[in-house]
Amino acid sequence: MNKSKITIKNISKIFISDEMETHALRDINLTIDHGDYLSISGPSGCGKSTLLSLLGLLDQPTSGQYFIENKDVSQLTLSQAAEIRSKKIGFVFQQFNLIDEISVFDNIALPLKYNPQVFTKTEVKARVMNCLKKVGLDHRTYHKPNQLSGGQQQRVAIARALVADPAILLVDEPTGNLDSKNGDIVMELLEQLNRAGTTICMVTHDPRYAAMAHRQINLLDGEIIETQIIKEEI
Ligand SMILES: Nc1ncnc2c1ncn2[C@@H]1O[C@H](COP(=O)(O)OP(=O)(O)O)[C@@H](O)[C@H]1O
Ligand SMILES: [Mg+2]
Repeated sequence: MNKSKITIKNISKIFISDEMETHALRDINLTIDHGDYLSISGPSGCGKSTLLSLLGLLDQPTSGQYFIENKDVSQLTLSQAAEIRSKKIGFVFQQFNLIDEISVFDNIALPLKYNPQVFTKTEVKARVMNCLKKVGLDHRTYHKPNQLSGGQQQRVAIARALVADPAILLVDEPTGNLDSKNGDIVMELLEQLNRAGTTICMVTHDPRYAAMAHRQINLLDGEIIETQIIKEEI
């Protein structure tokens, strides 16, 4: 039995527009195990976000195979992809993408509404409060996102990504909109969540943050040019 949560084999992605072909990813092989923390770095345009989109089932590879917990998810229909995404994937982006008109609580509860699993009101409350505690914001439950600092908003976005208990948290430049103090707080939170068992795959420009992962890969022109083991897995 393969213990990997995520395996991609010989994945390539070619974008075709106006007769122009962009080889965004070339023959990528990667495994992400339970409890792993992987960082992806490389210059702008090297394919980092494309790789994260494929891992998050937001797009499909041109060729190659993708397995989540041994299930082949390489060629799903849009609705199959949406279902697996809502059950298995948590996303955190540079922009927090919170809804300012509703409370922190309701923002975090939102993914449960669109989840194929039905949650009772009590279960929703328990999950939201548990995630708010994990990110240290249970005293801000009924604030609106725009009443919080940028760092706090990103922590709410992390709580929202965790609420459906995903197999993996995919994080794209989480500190891009934050000053260095709040960036550090968000990165410490991700490290703490990983120590508590959350599997994380994160894109970052910042070498300091990349080195907080267990494993670091560097991309150039759509290829993995270097893999560094930073910490042995526990
Ligand atoms: N939807 C798209 N259509 C065409 N080209 C794209 C698309 N998305 C990304 N690309 C191209 O693929 C390459 C990799 O992009 P991306 O993954 O966004 O890089 P990164 O996140 O490392 O900056 C770039 O050359 C980019 O212009
Ligand atoms: Mg990007």
